[in-house]
Amino acid sequence: MYDITIISGDGIGLEVMESAEYLLDKLDLNLSFNYGEAGFECFNKNGTTLPEETVKMAKSSDATLFGASTSTPGQPSPIINLRKELDVYANLRPIKSYKGVKTIAEGINFIIVRENTEGLYSQNEYGDENQMIAERVITRKASEKISDIAFKLASRRNMLNKVTCVHKSNVLKKTDGVFKESFYKVAKNYPTIKTEDFYVDATAMYLITNPLNFDVIVSTNLFGDILSDESAGLVGGLGLAPSGNIGDKNGLFEPVHGSAPDIAGKGIANPCSMILSTAMMLDYLGEKEIASRINHTVERVVAKGKVLTPDLGGNAKTMEMTEEIVKELI
Ligand code: NAI
Ligand code: MG
Repeated sequence: MYDITIISGDGIGLEVMESAEYLLDKLDLNLSFNYGEAGFECFNKNGTTLPEETVKMAKSSDATLFGASTSTPGQPSPIINLRKELDVYANLRPIKSYKGVKTIAEGINFIIVRENTEGLYSQNEYGDENQMIAERVITRKASEKISDIAFKLASRRNMLNKVTCVHKSNVLKKTDGVFKESFYKVAKNYPTIKTEDFYVDATAMYLITNPLNFDVIVSTNLFGDILSDESAGLVGGLGLAPSGNIGDKNGLFEPVHGSAPDIAGKGIANPCSMILSTAMMLDYLGEKEIASRINHTVERVVAKGKVLTPDLGGNAKTMEMTEEIVKELI
């Protein structure tokens, strides 16, 4: 039996989580669910964006599913804090082309490995009315750990056998200097994996001009975040971008997207990023066969192009596309 914590959050987080639960209910797996609160609505109700009970629940579960949260003025981000609490230091964001989705290139297939615990997402900002300072800590320990994950992934993927380190060490000489040095230190343990490193600004362009160059990209917290939305745009948008946050003890799975207030409440959010994140969770739990079947089913439904949400050019509702995926799967 697997104990799963479900945190829907706000906005389309609630809608796409309904899809994930609908799917999980139809699988022949022994799952038990606990429901945790977090986000903007949770703050209005409880005075905190991430209650202690939610953290405890997630820590004691086998895995956690997170929808999305709307940012709360003056309050810390619940998802960033939850990642820290669970020490899920590696944020894995696979990006690949889907047949039937018109994009600038075919056959895109890479994964972004984003350092999840430090960098500019410390949320430690201070100063006065006239000047504010944001803390950006980069440690050798975390940089080596995340590089090691990236090299392990490249060996396992067996595609281009390459890891690209993305940084800005020409300007952030000390902090990103540490990140880059750590990357090349770890690279010595993986002599069969090719390496390259680019500045983040150039990478933002290369992703558009030469997306097939990439296999595994490793970067710091903010750069990894920005590049993953750009990369999602390369293959059809945030509706097709899942993620898994992995640590030594915990796994937290969520779509790359946020709460999308512009479409929330309309029932038209693309459920695929949440469903693909759920497949990543099942893979993490050891249910490889069903995880892989879910991925292939999403590919088939998208390729058929009959039941698609508006972001993919269709006019189906979130639950209609979900039902179509589940019907194809079972
Ligand atoms: P967003 O990711 O919510 O939306 C960006 C754009 O993508 C919007 O046009 C939205 O409609 C579209 N989109 C996103 N997911 C989609 C889906 N499944 N189907 C169809 N279209 C989709 O980012 P935005 O608008 O910058 O932020 C909205 C709120 O979400 C903010 O309060 C932000 O702080 C929060 N946020 C939360 C995250 C999380 O909980 N992990 C991550 C990113 C943002
Ligand atoms: Mg983001």
